[in-house]
Amino acid sequence: MHSNAFFLGKGGVGKTTLSAAFGLALARSGKKVLVASLDPAHNLGDVYRTELGDAPTPVEPGLDAMEVDLASWVEKYLDESRQELKTTYSYAGTMNLESFFDIMKYSPGTEEYAVLWAIEHIHCELAASYDLVVFDTPPTALSLRFLAMPAISNLWVAELTKLRERILDRRTSITRINPESAVASSCVDKDDDKVYGRLGAIRKRLAALQNLFSQESYVAVVINPDQLSVSEAIRIKDELEKIRIPLSGICVNKRGISKADWSLDKRLHKIKTFDFGFRADGLHERGDLRTIETEELVADFMAAGPKGRA
Ligand SMILES: Nc1ncnc2c1ncn2[C@@H]1O[C@H](COP(=O)(O)OP(=O)(O)OP(=O)(O)O)[C@@H](O)[C@H]1O
Ligand SMILES: [Mg+2]
Repeated sequence: MHSNAFFLGKGGVGKTTLSAAFGLALARSGKKVLVASLDPAHNLGDVYRTELGDAPTPVEPGLDAMEVDLASWVEKYLDESRQELKTTYSYAGTMNLESFFDIMKYSPGTEEYAVLWAIEHIHCELAASYDLVVFDTPPTALSLRFLAMPAISNLWVAELTKLRERILDRRTSITRINPESAVASSCVDKDDDKVYGRLGAIRKRLAALQNLFSQESYVAVVINPDQLSVSEAIRIKDELEKIRIPLSGICVNKRGISKADWSLDKRLHKIKTFDFGFRADGLHERGDLRTIETEELVADFMAAGPKGRA
């Protein structure tokens, strides 16, 4: 069995409902489960009828849930970057970094990194107490960006590492020719170079996250029997293929919501599908989640993933 599950999909298809029902079913089968909402507009607490915060809160035996405070992760990410620049680059004190960080807060990528480091925190600090972590995800665009971030950033960091190696080589050559040169004092071995070390550390963190998404996670896309959510699922499938994250299943939720003819697009045919009927009376209590038939999905989840860990 995998140690993580992600439910992706178009707005309103039932990501939170299925994450909550799936987590509850696994907890009731004896697993220790954490359900974590990564959606900036949380409603996992409403679904569980339990007030949730940024730390795991017991919902019922075997089941904890949390609503990740993404705004605080943005602040943490900016603080970390600020500290890193100050300690790694001695000349940074001469630059006006504060205005740079003001802009960075709104720059593309900041929110994605905040989600990534929140997932890393859950994985490294909290996951050891659970058999699995279920992630209720934010809207598709942000989800695809944070899932792609480790692979994309790794390309950047690999190039920056090569550049740093070249800089260090040049410094060594110059110092050999002229031991009195200005760069002689910063001529160090790769292993003693702070910038080189930091780049290596970032690569390690990104590789661990890429591994988490591509090897340790059950990724499901939720659709409804309608064309718009299916089109979005096809886009998600294509994007996940590009970043080599396998798609484990398609959850067709709200089956029977309309009498209109509907059949699954053939581009999704090769992926396992799981059906969840529309509950016309609505889902009001936590107990109503039991009416969502998660058995097949749970069985597939338990059977998938690294062998010998179920
Ligand atoms: N199988 C179902 N039967 C009846 N109602 C359902 C079912 N699944 C979900 N719903 C209802 O559909 C609405 C949207 O569900 P939910 O909040 O889980 O979707 P979501 O994909 O998480 O939405 P968002 O993108 O806003 O986070 C909710 O009112 C929920 O109770
Ligand atoms: Mg939701």
